[in-house]
Amino acid sequence: MQKTFSIIKPDAVKRNLIGHINQMIENADLKILASKKIYLTKNQAQIFYEVHKERPFFNSLVEYMTSGAVQVQVLEGEDAVLKYRKIMGATNPDEAEEGTIRKQYAESIEANSVHGSDSEENAKIEISFFFSGSELVE
Ligand code: CMP
Repeated sequence: MQKTFSIIKPDAVKRNLIGHINQMIENADLKILASKKIYLTKNQAQIFYEVHKERPFFNSLVEYMTSGAVQVQVLEGEDAVLKYRKIMGATNPDEAEEGTIRKQYAESIEANSVHGSDSEENAKIEISFFFSGSELVE
């Protein structure tokens, strides 16, 4: 069993898609261990996306991620990191496969509805950024 970290982003929360996306997550045999709706502060968004800080889209990304509420979640399952990235689909919705969350719901490469950790190591870092151990319930 492996854990991964997920964000349902402002574009999807605004369009009332939390339940739809979580249905797709559960249909893929991923269990939602923890889930909460929060507003990211500008500082949190800058730290979370620090790896992208030299990219031309960084300021816009921080602006977008703080433009509305997000749903942060911890998912668990077999090969959870890879499995969730598969059901999310490619970053750019134009390149995402049929049946993926981004193909179905994303609005653009920036407003792409969901985030998922890209490795188990980053999943641990991202989970501990938003959740304490006692919030993860089997
Ligand atoms: P995510 O998987 O959360 O990781 C970084 C985010 O930056 C990505 O999803 C998109 O929301 C955003 N992003 C990535 N590439 C671009 C791009 N070329 N232009 C605008 N935003 C991008």
